[in-house]
Amino acid sequence: WPWLLGILIGGYLIGSIPFGLLVVKAFGMGDVRKIGSGNIGTTNVLRTGSKLAAFLTLLLDGGKGAVAVLIAWSLYGGTAAQVAALGAFLGHLYPVWLSFKGGKGVATFLGVILALHWPAGALCCLTWLAIAGVFRISSLSALVAAVLSPVWLFATGGDPIIWLSVVLALLVVLKHRENIARLIAGTEPKIGRKS
Ligand code: G3P
Repeated sequence: WPWLLGILIGGYLIGSIPFGLLVVKAFGMGDVRKIGSGNIGTTNVLRTGSKLAAFLTLLLDGGKGAVAVLIAWSLYGGTAAQVAALGAFLGHLYPVWLSFKGGKGVATFLGVILALHWPAGALCCLTWLAIAGVFRISSLSALVAAVLSPVWLFATGGDPIIWLSVVLALLVVLKHRENIARLIAGTEPKIGRKS
């Protein structure tokens, strides 16, 4: 198992790159943690007003998850890919570089699921889009997409990674505690709104 620990750490290091923070800084817009929800993810980067910065954050945060999975898969096979996915996700949520205060995992979650089993990943993306289309609330879309991911995996023959999707979905819910409280209170902002 020591080699799997190596893959977990490798995935973690890839996942821990805080692209939202870096992109917003590179655009000369300061520290994204000081605006909106304070999160380093796509939704909060959009609150800077830059759609391009938000799009890049989505691409890079999703991409790092997919890249970690694909590297591990091509070198060591399916089990390694799952471990790399877990590592990358944990790296995004708890990056050592930011005193373990990372993002909420939605883009990275989509990236790893797409790379591990694309039909279920595509259904998760469609779920996000459908809920966002109706309610225009990012956190709600993410929560529904994450919670339904085991169902989409089961429906598309992705059974071997259902365990992983359950773990990731639980962590997504955990990271959205404040969002859930706002959703219940009816104060969660719509996509693109500053507060
Ligand atoms: O992807 C994170 C999203 O679900 C919520 O982000 O900034 O509104 O807390 P935020």
